[in-house]
Amino acid sequence: MINLSVNGEERRYEGDPEMPLLWYLRDELGLTGTKFGCGIAACGACTIHVGGTAVRACQTPVSAADGQPVVTIEGLSADGNHPVQAAWRDLNVAQCGYCQTGQIMQAAALLKDTPKPSDDDIDSAMSGNLCRCGTYPRIRAAIKQAAGVTPKTEQGGRL
Ligand code: FES
Ligand code: FES
Repeated sequence: MINLSVNGEERRYEGDPEMPLLWYLRDELGLTGTKFGCGIAACGACTIHVGGTAVRACQTPVSAADGQPVVTIEGLSADGNHPVQAAWRDLNVAQCGYCQTGQIMQAAALLKDTPKPSDDDIDSAMSGNLCRCGTYPRIRAAIKQAAGVTPKTEQGGRL
């Protein structure tokens, strides 16, 4: 028996403890905001928070979340207005969107631990989150805006 808290809801899981958390979230709980990209912890599309830390759900067994709070993109904010989400919207970061929930979860974890990140901090934290559409400049700008490193009016529009 594995006890989890997923987006604030208590859950019990009695299946294979080694099953990837990604399958549990998507297939059993219907939380499809977390994406499957590579399955080998190489793209970041499946990034969620476990115990407040960004992890790759495709390579994290359900057992690793026993007793830990799990947060997915659906639970990052009650109203979709986490500062990272707001900045993402302001700067129109997403293109196709597939990688973006992972990007947002990674960025939110970065800002929790490093509220005023430098460019190097951002590059280091985000280097494992790939974007085939090449939205990297807007991701970096949105993280800075969310952190208050750059004022909202300075960025504006597409980069
Ligand atoms: S699907 Fe998990 S890192 Fe790519
Ligand atoms: S927005 Fe398309 S892969 Fe990132």
